Amino acid sequence: MTYNDIDFNHKTILITGGAGFIGSNLAFYFQENYPNAQVVVFDCFRSEATFANGNLQSFGHYKNLIGFTGDVVCGNINNKTDLALLDDYEFDFIFHQAAISDTRVYDQEIVMKTNVNSFYDLLNKAQKDGAVMVYASSAATYGSLPSPQTVGQESPENPYGFSKYMMDQIAYRFANDFPEMTIVGLKFFNVYGPREYYKAKTSSMVIQLGHQILAGKAPKLFENSAQILRDFINIEDVIQANIKACHPQQNGTYNVGTGTPRSFQDIADILQQELQTDLGTDYIPNPYAGYQMHTQADISTSKTGLGFEPKISLEAGIKAYIPEIKRLYGTDIS
Ligand SMILES: NC(=O)c1ccc[n+]([C@@H]2O[C@H](COP(=O)([O-])OP(=O)(O)OC[C@H]3O[C@@H](n4cnc5c(N)ncnc54)[C@H](O)[C@@H]3O)[C@@H](O)[C@H]2O)c1
Repeated sequence: MTYNDIDFNHKTILITGGAGFIGSNLAFYFQENYPNAQVVVFDCFRSEATFANGNLQSFGHYKNLIGFTGDVVCGNINNKTDLALLDDYEFDFIFHQAAISDTRVYDQEIVMKTNVNSFYDLLNKAQKDGAVMVYASSAATYGSLPSPQTVGQESPENPYGFSKYMMDQIAYRFANDFPEMTIVGLKFFNVYGPREYYKAKTSSMVIQLGHQILAGKAPKLFENSAQILRDFINIEDVIQANIKACHPQQNGTYNVGTGTPRSFQDIADILQQELQTDLGTDYIPNPYAGYQMHTQADISTSKTGLGFEPKISLEAGIKAYIPEIKRLYGTDIS
């Protein structure tokens, strides 16, 4: 599937965070659709190290890349010597996905160092190489502002959201200083789909609830989950946005959601329908004060500025994902 006229064949493409969920899907997108593209994955891969919340410090996993035939450079974006390994290449496109993607890491120093400092280095590399820069921002830049979340009206409420917000500010300034460059930030909402399994507890509720149901358990949801709405976006539509971002009407940041919020209860119900179970729901109290009850991306500028058109409904996305959810059930996550 191709999304625009850009021929990525014979182009050199860097995907930071390419062993992670979105990055590995991008790597395979290019491999399958542009077999003569030179794709370079840069990722620190996972180690045993954990954050204070008990989650791993990085989720990149070699199993996401089995079958990938491009180059892999193992390195840390915090380390200038590692980043210098990329000087062996002159890139045409950089898709910058590497980050601490766990929104519940509250160590501000490590989040800011990893997500923000490295961005200067990668922007400088893009500028030197004349590369298009498409980077991952986040819906977390909006905090708990009321829906619809609209570009230009951000109010982050955790270090992760703030780090992405600062990346956006740096990108705006950089684009202003170097108007010949293409720099686009994509504010992903709740992404789900294949190759997210190794994000463990930070993977989407689609796979987590799917595996609860396959274990014969009622899916566990917060009370009032029919009223807790999120803008769930399928990985294929996220790939579409990344590709279209390479040729924007103008530089800037764009929302990547469907524009149609759905509830966590919807996910559980669709999964039970697809898996032909009738286990009910196990409701638990929501321990989070000030929990975001409703997200909905305003995608009007994404449509006009990128030509982005989300195609996959939650029903269709879950249906297509079921074989993969089944395949991964009970498999080793280490
Ligand atoms: N998945 C979502 O719903 C979502 C939503 C909003 C934004 N995002 C953003 O999209 C990007 C990709 O997210 P994802 O869901 O694929 O997460 P992910 O955790 O699977 O991918 C991030 C990758 O970056 C790598 N990484 C982390 N720290 C690194 C470091 N210091 N040096 C080198 N590599 C490092 C990890 O190993 C991992 O492979 C991230 O920037 C994330 O913040 C994702």
